[in-house]
Amino acid sequence: MIRTILTYPNAELKKKSAPVAIISDSVRGLVQDMAETMYDAPGVGLAAPQIGVHQRIIVIDISAKNEPPDLIVAINPVIVHGEGETYEEEGCLSVPDYAANVRRHARVIVKALNLEGIECTWKAEDLLAIAFQHEIDHLEGILFVDHLSALKRELFQRKARKAAEDKR
Ligand code: NI
Repeated sequence: MIRTILTYPNAELKKKSAPVAIISDSVRGLVQDMAETMYDAPGVGLAAPQIGVHQRIIVIDISAKNEPPDLIVAINPVIVHGEGETYEEEGCLSVPDYAANVRRHARVIVKALNLEGIECTWKAEDLLAIAFQHEIDHLEGILFVDHLSALKRELFQRKARKAAEDKR
């Protein structure tokens, strides 16, 4: 089922998510919905809090349009190592019509459970490394715009307020 993606400045996006204790049928159903919602958007990643569920689950698929899907499901993900630096443009399904460069680690090692409850390790670089950091941020209630300089964030907030007013 495709879920509604919450958008900035919805307060649900600022809440911290709780670890998943048991990978139950409801968790499996949630992951299915998250994947469907991400592919429908379309986006390269989605975190559970973006659909209003505060559990530490992310889905990522950075495969190109002409490639077969390559879905990553990461439950209770943790970045155990980060190194290098990158400064690439990011967007977010929860922050429509806005993109900005964000400083991130260029390479990360992530540990998480997969849907079978098996601990997996990903050595990620480039776009995948950025996607992991971006999605794991969501679990802490952090959006990519929170990483911007004070000036850039102020410009973003002004733009968002104006867009909200125009909608009224
Ligand atoms: Ni996002």
